[in-house]
Formats: sequence, C-alpha cells, structure tokens
Amino acid sequence: MIKPETIDKIFDAARIEEVVGDFVTLKKRGVNLLGLCPFHNEKTPSFTVSPAKGIFKCFGCGKGGNAVNFIMEHEHFSYPEALKYLAGKYGIEVEEEKPSPEQQEALDEKESLFNLTAFAQKHFEETLHNTEEGKAIGLSYFKERGFTTETIKKFGLGYSLNNWDDFTSKALKHGYKKELLEKSSLVRTKDHQTYDTFRARVTFPIHNLSGRVLGFGARILTQDKKKPKYINTAESEIYHKSKVLYGLYFAKSAIVKEDNCYLTEGYTDVISLYQAGIENVISSSGTSLTTEQIKLIRRYTTNITLLFDGDPAGIKAAFRGIDMILEEGMNVKIVLFPDGEDPDSYARNYRPAEVKEFIKKNARDFISFKTNLLLEETQNDPIKKAALIKEIALSISQIPEPIARALYVQKSSDLLRIEEKLLMAEINKQRRERFKKRTGDPSAKSEQSWQPDETEITSDKQIEKGIHVDKQEKELIRLLLLFHDHEVQFEEKDENGQTTEFKYKVSDYIVDELTDDEITFDNLDCQKIFNEFVNARKQNVTLSDQYFFNHQQPSISRMAIDLTSSQHILSEQWENKHGIFVNKEEDNIKNILVEMLYALKLKKLEQQIYKNKEILQDEKDEEQILIHLENIKNLESIKTLIARELSRIVIQ
Ligand code: UTP
Ligand code: MN
Repeated sequence: MIKPETIDKIFDAARIEEVVGDFVTLKKRGVNLLGLCPFHNEKTPSFTVSPAKGIFKCFGCGKGGNAVNFIMEHEHFSYPEALKYLAGKYGIEVEEEKPSPEQQEALDEKESLFNLTAFAQKHFEETLHNTEEGKAIGLSYFKERGFTTETIKKFGLGYSLNNWDDFTSKALKHGYKKELLEKSSLVRTKDHQTYDTFRARVTFPIHNLSGRVLGFGARILTQDKKKPKYINTAESEIYHKSKVLYGLYFAKSAIVKEDNCYLTEGYTDVISLYQAGIENVISSSGTSLTTEQIKLIRRYTTNITLLFDGDPAGIKAAFRGIDMILEEGMNVKIVLFPDGEDPDSYARNYRPAEVKEFIKKNARDFISFKTNLLLEETQNDPIKKAALIKEIALSISQIPEPIARALYVQKSSDLLRIEEKLLMAEINKQRRERFKKRTGDPSAKSEQSWQPDETEITSDKQIEKGIHVDKQEKELIRLLLLFHDHEVQFEEKDENGQTTEFKYKVSDYIVDELTDDEITFDNLDCQKIFNEFVNARKQNVTLSDQYFFNHQQPSISRMAIDLTSSQHILSEQWENKHGIFVNKEEDNIKNILVEMLYALKLKKLEQQIYKNKEILQDEKDEEQILIHLENIKNLESIKTLIARELSRIVIQ
C-alpha cells in the first residue's frame, strides 16, 4: 500500500523519454522521439514517445501508455512493482501507508509464512544434499529420473527425512510458533501428536512470480498404494493453488521470447522439458487447470500448447483445457504423447532435439485434434458424427472474438465436410443456451469474457448480428477526453418565440444528457472515466488534460491514451502545422457531439430491443409475452424519434 502522495511524486518525476530510453534507443523527430518498438518486431521505427504528453504509442502494434504502463508492460511488473522500480530510478523514498492493526497482523502473518516456507525449502534442500539418507534415497531417486545436479539445484528440489519430527523440531528450535507451523501445513497434528507432513518424500518447491517459495509438492518414494503419490501444500494465506502455476517463475521470460507457453500436467514434466532445453514450460500443481491460471499466462503470451498424456484422463483434461483457453480469447494447440508416455518420460527416452521435433510435428489446433480423435470412431455412423459436430461447435462457441470464430467455422466445415451454415447454427444455439444460463445467474453480469451483444454469426455474410455499443461508447469518451473543457452554444426558443442563447461546457453537456437518460456504459473503463467527469461536475472542478494519462488505474490511463492519440495527433506534422484534423473536429464540435450522443442512445435502444426480442423467443407465459411486446413497441417509437433527429443532424 504505497501512499498516494508517493505515487504522485513518482508520476511527477518520471520522464517518459528517460524511462523508455533505458530500454529503447530513441531518436529525436521534431517534438517527439522515435524508436524501434520493444513490444513487436519491426524494422522501421513506429514507436513514438511524446515527452510533452508524457506518453508512448506504437503505431505498429497499437501499444500505448504512460511511464508506469511502459514498465509494467516491458518488465511484466505489477502496478506496485512498477511504481517501486520508478521510485528507485528517481531516488524517491517509497512511503507505504501505515496499515491498520488488523491489516498489520495479516501482513505479519503472511510474511512469517513466507519466511517459514523459505526456511523449510532450505532445510529440505540441505537434507537432500548433505545427509546420508537424503543422498541415498532422495538424491539417487532424482538422478535415476535423469535430473542433473544443475537441474536439481535450479529447481531447489529437496528431501524430507523418514522421521516424524525432523523438520518440526528444527523449526521450533528456530523460534517458529507451533500455530504457524500448522497454518503452513508443513506440520500436521493428529491425536495431539504433531508430525512432518512431507516425511520420507522428495520435495518440489513452488515459487511465486518473484521467486519466493509459496509451498511444495512432495512425492512418495515407495510403492505404497495406500498413501497418496503426491502431497501438496494446503491452501494458506500465501498459497492459493488455483492461482499458481508451477515453473512460471523460471519460464516467464522464455514464454515471452517464444510467444508460446507449454502447459503440462505436473512437476516432473516441467523439470524434464526444461532440462531438455524447452524452457517455456509450466504446469498447474495438484489441481486441474483454472481460469485464473489461464489469465496469469495471458500476461506473457496469448498462445498455449497443451502437452498431455495420450491416455483417456489426459484427453479428458485436454478437452476441458481447450474450451477454457478459447473462452479467454487465447489460442490453443494440443500435443498428445503416445499412450503410456508423458512429456517427462518422452524427454527421458529421447534426445532434446527429438523432443522438440516431436512437439513441433504433433502440435494440432483444437479442431484437427478433436476431429482426428473422434472421426475414426465416427466413420459412417451419422449419430456419432452428429455428436462430433456438436463437440466441435462447443469449442468454437467459446471463442469471444467473432472473426476468429468465423475462421474456425470455415476450417472445420472443410474438415468435417459439413455446410458452414449448419455448423454456425449449432454454434449460435450453444452460445444462446449458455447466455441464458448465465443471465439467469446474478453473478453472470460481472463476467466480461462473454458479451451477449456479440452473439451470432450469420451464415452468408459472416458478420455479427447482435448489437455492439463499444464503438459508440469509446467515441463519446474520446470526445469527452479531447474536448471536455470546450464550450458549445445552444439556442432555445421559448413560447413567445424568443430565442435565448446559452453556453454549455462539453463535459457538463455529456454528463447531463447521459445521466438524464440513465445511460450506463457496457465498457467498464469507459464507465469509470465517465464517473470521474460526473464527480468533477458535482464538485465543479475541471480535470486537466493530463489527468487521465497519468491515472493511477493502468487500464484507464491506457484507454485514455489509446483513444486520444491518433497518429495525426502525435505526429510531427500536427504538432508543427497545428494540423487540420483536430482543428476540423474542434470547429464542428457541437454537431459531432450531438450526433455521437444520439448515436449512442440509438444503439442503447437497439440493444434493449434486441434483448427483449431474445427473451421473447423462448417466453411461454402469455402475460410476459405481452409485457415484452409492449416494451418493444415503446422502445421502437423512441428509436424512431431519435433516428429522425440523428438524420437531421447528419444531413445538416
Ligand atoms: P505421474 O503419476 O506421472 O507422477 O503424474 P510421476 O512423479 O511422474 O510418477 P511416475 O514416475 O511417472 O510414476 C504426473 C504429474 O501429476 C501430478 C504431479 O505433478 C506429477 O508430476 N500429480 C500426480 C499430483 O499432483 N498428484 C498425484 O497424486 C499424482
Ligand atoms: Mn510421470
């Protein structure tokens, strides 16, 4: 919790050209600086830095932001990490807010858990390398598995003695409290007896993104069928298994470099592949893949390749993984290993080059994967083929991006020899069903990944039917950001035919218009920016041009920069010649403004009408049907009015 004053100081001190200049060679171009974009490969520079505005923008890949965004993006830092980096660069002392006693207690507990876990990791590692039992049992096991000493050290592997309290007594001696030992699940209590949880097991420490140990997976070394093969650290203040990926700390830079992430099933797969020179590899630990984990991967790449065992369990896990990844709008490929092999055994049995070759040769996109797997058994069996088509439609229906969806439809209609139209009908049906299920659920609203207004692809045109408002919302916010303190003049005629002229500040006008009609934004960042203007109006203050660029919420600053920095605005041409583009818009601001407001209102109405019609489709209750029909009629008549106004303005 960095103090807001410190954050202000950091934003004030950070010169964008200096911050970027540490990573990118910049050349002066008029008032701006130009360089090769660090976020995508390019030969001619299109990465622009505007010292005056304090922002960067790449016209090649579209990335843009302020100094803090740049560090977050470039170094894969979280917001506080980026702030601390910049504080370090500019010699600003970071003052943290004094936490409340409860917060302090939670922090202390977290810190003590981290501390204890690090202590345990060191203890297990020393036991592995420096005790007779460790060497004879643990170390020789790892060696047998083909792990080199370098690998064993790199991953911090360890061994816990076959002894009830070796670790417990050492930790107690070091002053760790018994309650803390239990909270960490390193020690357990049964019948008033405490004992080492991982005794007689080899240990795999699990790291967080900055390399601190959060917990362990621990593998048994005997063939005892009654005991679990692996025991994992239980959930704690610091260890949340659904949010952690094993190996990510070691893999993250390779993932960025390769722009792909290999996702495997376990600790040993990660380590063996890493040792074989495939470093962009991770796994979930003791849990099946979660959405949170996929989102974590997305910080580094949008491409995931599943490397799974070819047995039925592996295939089932792959099917599940595919749909979850697609739903996050990411790309997925699948490599199945021959039955009986997993990535770990394959990496042990073949040379590194052969492993790489195998993966390269066998990576399938999800359609070929499902088709190949299922088509054999469905030969000439129409019922089974129908099930296969459903199965593929299910995956495609998860993809949020309509164009990607259409492309996959094309591809699978070729492969399955089925008309695109039919496949699309099935996909749309599945999307509708899911939408209905979700909207019945009050928590559905907060889910951003699935937007009801982008639902359907029509077969012939392959374009979206649903109603999008994103464009209109962003356009209005763009006007708000660029022209909020301009004034527009309106005339009003009273009953006596007297005209009075009055002036309106653009931001006030937009705020009043939208609040009067109770219009809200679908896009959360747009809504947040709008809310700030609402507050500013209430408090009668004017927000500065820089306010949103340096907004402390990274998604907002990024959106503000994206919306307002078109090539024309940032380019030298504009800066020098006081360009034509913006001035033109400025001259005409009143018309543009009114037009955009109407356009947004119109879209919002269409959206409501569409929603009402959707509900109507499956409504059985007569009374409800009448209500919805009435709603639609009312909405349609307002829509006609607005459409008429709009065409009047546009023609003018
Ligand atoms: P394996 O059963 O292949 O584990 O599971 P292994 O250690 O490689 O055993 P052998 O030598 O092939 O028999 C693969 C991964 O699944 C996870 C582990 O991460 C393991 O590396 N796993 C497996 C668990 O988390 N818990 C289990 O009970 C089993
Ligand atoms: Mn295995």
